[in-house]
Amino acid sequence: MHHFDYKHGALHVEDIPLSDIARDVGTPFYCYSSATLERHYRVFAEAFKAPETLIAYSIKANSNLSVVRTLAKAGAGADVVSRGELRRALTAGVPATRIVFSGVGKTRDEMAEALEAGIYQFNVESEPELQALSECAQSKNKQAPITLRINPDVDAGTHEKINTGRAENKFGIAWNKAREVYAHAASLPGIKIVGVDVHIGSQITALDPFEQAFKRVSELVKDLRADGHNIQRLDLGGGLGIPYAAQGQIPPHPDQYAAMIARVTGGLDVQLIFEPGRLIVGNAGLLVSRVIYVKHGENRAFVILDAAMNDLIRPALYDAHHDILPLAQPAPTAPYAPFDVVGPVCETGDSFAQNRDLPPLNAGDLVAIMSTGAYGAVQSSEYNTRPLIPEVMVHGGQMAVVRRRPSYEDMMAVEPMAQWLK
Ligand code: LLP
Repeated sequence: MHHFDYKHGALHVEDIPLSDIARDVGTPFYCYSSATLERHYRVFAEAFKAPETLIAYSIKANSNLSVVRTLAKAGAGADVVSRGELRRALTAGVPATRIVFSGVGKTRDEMAEALEAGIYQFNVESEPELQALSECAQSKNKQAPITLRINPDVDAGTHEKINTGRAENKFGIAWNKAREVYAHAASLPGIKIVGVDVHIGSQITALDPFEQAFKRVSELVKDLRADGHNIQRLDLGGGLGIPYAAQGQIPPHPDQYAAMIARVTGGLDVQLIFEPGRLIVGNAGLLVSRVIYVKHGENRAFVILDAAMNDLIRPALYDAHHDILPLAQPAPTAPYAPFDVVGPVCETGDSFAQNRDLPPLNAGDLVAIMSTGAYGAVQSSEYNTRPLIPEVMVHGGQMAVVRRRPSYEDMMAVEPMAQWLK
């Protein structure tokens, strides 16, 4: 459920018409609903009964400081994958003791900063990383709390670019090497084993792959305990999918996901940790764009928007579907016709939708590209020297620009001319 609805013929975010924001901020822009963020967090958190369960919001999905702060105030921890994300989490008010650090390529500098901050755990993905972390912690007279991310060799059945749990992926430690690497970890002076971690992919819309993976790691917890390791935590990663289309496949509800997990991990006596990203922010955001032209080609009609692939790359990169709604509610009798919805960037891949049935649109009309709160703004770029677009957050009847649009001077100020060219 989200808080973007038509009221009196105009698409609103909470209590504000999106066209008012477009007038004040200009297009294109991202808009987030703080009520939706809070609601999604609450629904997920309430699915898990144990009070010690840690929901570490995966900051990579949307790292805007006001988004992270909204979730931190609701009780979320954070899953970070870089020094930048660590700093964002801390700046937004996430306590270090609720931060987990994931990723296959943590540098020693990043490890040092996270150790100084006193984060909750490192999810380690390889033996060389384990070695580096141990040395880094030892040099500070500390012990780094770690889980090992295990690759359970399960196919998450999602888009190949976001499928991470198969043996051939770069992620995690091979299933059949797990006990050996835990034994090695236990011998390292700077390392303190606290748990097991797994993450099999993103936008997963069935429970079965999760269940297979979680069964495997639950067995591993028992084996590791039998080997003498003190396994207190089980980090089950993120990946639960969201509905991207008003009419379409509905992924499992967090309650069903939680019930399956209770069944699979029940009796293990571990603290559960989750790293949801998309589930929390995906449907809490949309992108508002203005139609520049409507062009009737030989056998296709194009709606050309002022937003482009540099602002939202998901359709180009993952063939992702995003619903597109006009801000002015179409009449029930409006004649729908197929359009390709594209941006102004000079690439054929700069497309948001093909053959999409839309009501009549004219130059100057506003549209919303729905479900773009996750992996939207964070994956944007300045390609074609298009400034990064602003991000706006709404809270009831209040709105705030939570990331401003840079000026062209701002963009060029970070590019000093080489001295021999001056
Ligand atoms: N934990 C780890 C270790 C991850 O790698 C990810 C996502 C998450 C948690 C959060 O997953 P989520 O709950 O959001 O599915 N840019 C792609 C998605 C990339 C996902 C990367 N890892 C997209 O737009 O679909």
